[in-house]
Order: sequence, then structure tokens, then C-alpha cells
Amino acid sequence: FATLNGIPDEAINNKAVIVIDALRATTTITVALAAGCLEVIPVLTPEEAIEMRERLGDERVLLGGERNALKIPGFDLGNSPLEYTTEIVAGKRLIITTTNGTRAIRRAAGGRLVFLGAMINAPAVAGLAATAGSDITIICAGTRDRFSLEDFLTAGLLVDQLAGQGEFVLRDGALAARDYYYCHRADPAAALQASFHGRLLADLGLEADVEFCSRVGATDVVPVYSGGIIKKAS
Ligand code: MLT
Repeated sequence: FATLNGIPDEAINNKAVIVIDALRATTTITVALAAGCLEVIPVLTPEEAIEMRERLGDERVLLGGERNALKIPGFDLGNSPLEYTTEIVAGKRLIITTTNGTRAIRRAAGGRLVFLGAMINAPAVAGLAATAGSDITIICAGTRDRFSLEDFLTAGLLVDQLAGQGEFVLRDGALAARDYYYCHRADPAAALQASFHGRLLADLGLEADVEFCSRVGATDVVPVYSGGIIKKAS
């Protein structure tokens, strides 16, 4: 278990890595793939996204993402999972940039296997990661290099799910995250709502997103990041 800020390379390289940005990037990417989006390309800046769309020259490409939790001007979609419906994303390729989530995904590039985790797919991600046959590092995207409760809670949920799948030696961050999850497992939605980012999203009228992001196990879709592209695990 690690936060993005200062994570050492040896915690990533040759490990199975699970990247979490529960509010909302890894939830949104999971929903996009579940809705039939062909692939998702995470990039760091809006400029990089626009430049890549031009370079790809593919009419199927959509631009998605946020800055300050709001849709980026000129983009097709924001970062709300509720926007990524089958009607809009099926058969499309998505280039996405978000403040913390896509940065964390790109940071994990050296992992042997890189999965994207959220509350909505935690049981499925844990099931797949448990068979990876190596150490597992969970990376919490956090918020602008600060600790985020929603990612910590999701990490705890994943640790709980992983512990049910095999014999793992848990480091202290994993133990603390699991304890925090145990405190809130009866009502994860309330914990997400109480988090700093959950309150910020509610202030923007996006409380439905927060509720959606707290639906533990709502989907079996596991996004896998490899070679710069995120696809659904087959
Ligand atoms: C991020 O990457 O910082 C986020 O997913 C923020 C958000 O849109 O809620």
C-alpha cells in the first residue's frame, strides 16, 4: 500500500499494482469500459489529449476528463461516471486526463501488471490480482499529493478482499487501511460523502456521483493498463 507522493520505484517495478482514484477517475474509466468503450488512453494534460486526438486522426476518439472536478472546455465528456453511457461511449476510444487519477496510472507504468481499482469493481480486481503470483502494491492517487480518505477506504476494501483469496503478508499501511474500512463497511457511501473530495463534489451538485462511486461490487469489469492503454481484462 502506498500513496502517490514519494512512492519508490521498487514498490512498482515487477509488482502487480492496483491504482485507486475512487472519486472519480478509476470509477469512471471502469464504467466507460463496462459500457463498451474500446480503450482508454490516460494522459497528463489537456494539451496532450488534444494533440493525441489530432495525431490519431480517428473519428471514434472522445476526449474526457476534468480540472477542478469540472469538464475541460472543448472536451466531449467530464469525469462523471454517469456520463459514460453505452449510447455515448460504445465503440469509441477515450483519451482522458484528470488531476490525480491519470497521473497515478501513468506513474504505475513500470508494474508487471497494472489494474485499476475502485469500490465498484473491488471484488473483481482482488480476484484477478490475487492470481498475479507476485507482491501486490496498492497506489492511492490522493488529491494533489495529499492523502485522500476515499482512496484509503477503497484500499482497505481491497486488502480485505485480497486477504480472503490467499496468504498475504500485510504491511502497516495495508493493515491501517483495512481497519479503516472495517470502521465504515456498514455504510461506505457515508464515508465517501464525509471525505474532503466527497464534500467538494457535493458542493458542485455532484452528490449522485459520490453515491454511485460507493456501490461496492457493482461491476466485474477490471481495467488493465499496459503499453500506455487501458483495456478491459479478458
Ligand atoms: C482526479 O483525478 O483528481 C479526480 O478523479 C477528480 C474528480 O474528477 O473527481
